[in-house]
Amino acid sequence: APWAVVFGGPSPEHEISILTGLQAERVLTAAGHAVVPIYWSPTGEWFRVPVATEAKDYLEGAPRDSVALEVRLSGEPGLYRRKKFGAERLELEASLLCLHGGVGEGGGAAAVFSLLGIPATGSTLFAGAVGMDKLAFGGLMTAAGIPSLPREAVSTLREPGFGGPYIVKPRFGGSSIGIEIADDIEAARALAGASVHLRNGAVLEPYRPELVDLNISFRTHPELEITQLEKPLRGERQSALYSYAEKYLAGGTGAEAGLSSAPREFPAEVAESVHETARDLAARVADVTRLTGVVRVDLLLDEATGELFVNEVNSIPGALSLYLWAPQRPAAEVLVDAIVEARDKRVVF
Ligand code: DAL
Ligand code: MG
Repeated sequence: APWAVVFGGPSPEHEISILTGLQAERVLTAAGHAVVPIYWSPTGEWFRVPVATEAKDYLEGAPRDSVALEVRLSGEPGLYRRKKFGAERLELEASLLCLHGGVGEGGGAAAVFSLLGIPATGSTLFAGAVGMDKLAFGGLMTAAGIPSLPREAVSTLREPGFGGPYIVKPRFGGSSIGIEIADDIEAARALAGASVHLRNGAVLEPYRPELVDLNISFRTHPELEITQLEKPLRGERQSALYSYAEKYLAGGTGAEAGLSSAPREFPAEVAESVHETARDLAARVADVTRLTGVVRVDLLLDEATGELFVNEVNSIPGALSLYLWAPQRPAAEVLVDAIVEARDKRVVF
C-alpha cells in the first residue's frame, strides 16, 4: 500500500508545512515510491490532493480536484473518501508527517494516526508534546544536566529569577514566529498580553545577541545518527533574530525555500571541540527526550568561551532538515528510513 505524506494543519507554521510536505512528496516520488499527498487545512479539514501540486495552489485553500476525506476513529478506523453512497477507506501503509507547530508537531497528529491504524513518522504523543513546549523542554534539559539558558514563564504572579533584557517567545511556538525583545519584565508582560502569538503562553530567556545559532540533526533509525553542524548566517544582522524571513524566504521561492536556501556555513567553521560537544549534546537530547524520526536540535554558542547551550528541538523540522543530511545520506533514504521506523514501531504512545 502507498505511503501518505501529510502536511498543513491548524498551526501558525501552516505554510512552511506545505513547503516541507511538497518537498518530501517530490523526493519520495523521484525515488520511485507511491505516495498519497494529504492536506490538513487550517480549519481542520482533510483532503487527498492531486500529486505534484505547488505551494501556490494552496493560496486559497485546498487545490483544485482535491477530495474531501473523513476521519473515522470507530468501526474500521481510517481515512475515508466520501462517495455518493457510503465511503471508501484509503489503504495506507504508513504516513510521513510533515506538520510543523501546533497539534501536528506537538504529538496530536501522531496520536490520531496511531488510532487510525496508520503508523506515523516521528515521535510519540508525549515526546512530541514536550518538544513543542519550550518551558517543559527547558525544564527537562535542566533536569538532565544538559546546558541551556535559563527560561521561565512570563507571569504576573512572580518576578523572573534573572534580569533583562529578555527575549520573549511563544511557549508553544516555532519558526521564530511571534518572538519579541523586551527591556524589562513589565514590557514582557505587556507583550504577552497584547500579542496574538504570545497570549497562549510566553517564556522569557536572557537576551544574549552575541550568541551564535548552530543547528544539528539526529535520526533514530536504523540507529542513532547525527549530522554535521551548520551555522546559519544572519547577513548584516539587521534583524536581531534569526527570523522567519531569513529562514524561509531569503533567496528562494516555492518548495525550494523550504530547503533552507538562507546563507550558511556548512559544516560550521568552529573549533573541533565545538563539533564534538554539539554531537554529544545531540545524542543526550535524543536520549532524554525519546524523540524519534528526524529531529533538529538548535544550539547557541558563546564564541568567547566556547560554551554551547541547547536552545530547542524541532521534532518535525522544516524540509525535515534534509539539507543537513545531504552530504551523508540521500534525502530519499532519510525519509524512507523514517517511514520504515514508523511502520515497524511497536510502542505508539
Ligand atoms: N519549525 C520549523 C519548521 C523548523 O524548525 O524547521
Ligand atoms: Mg523551531
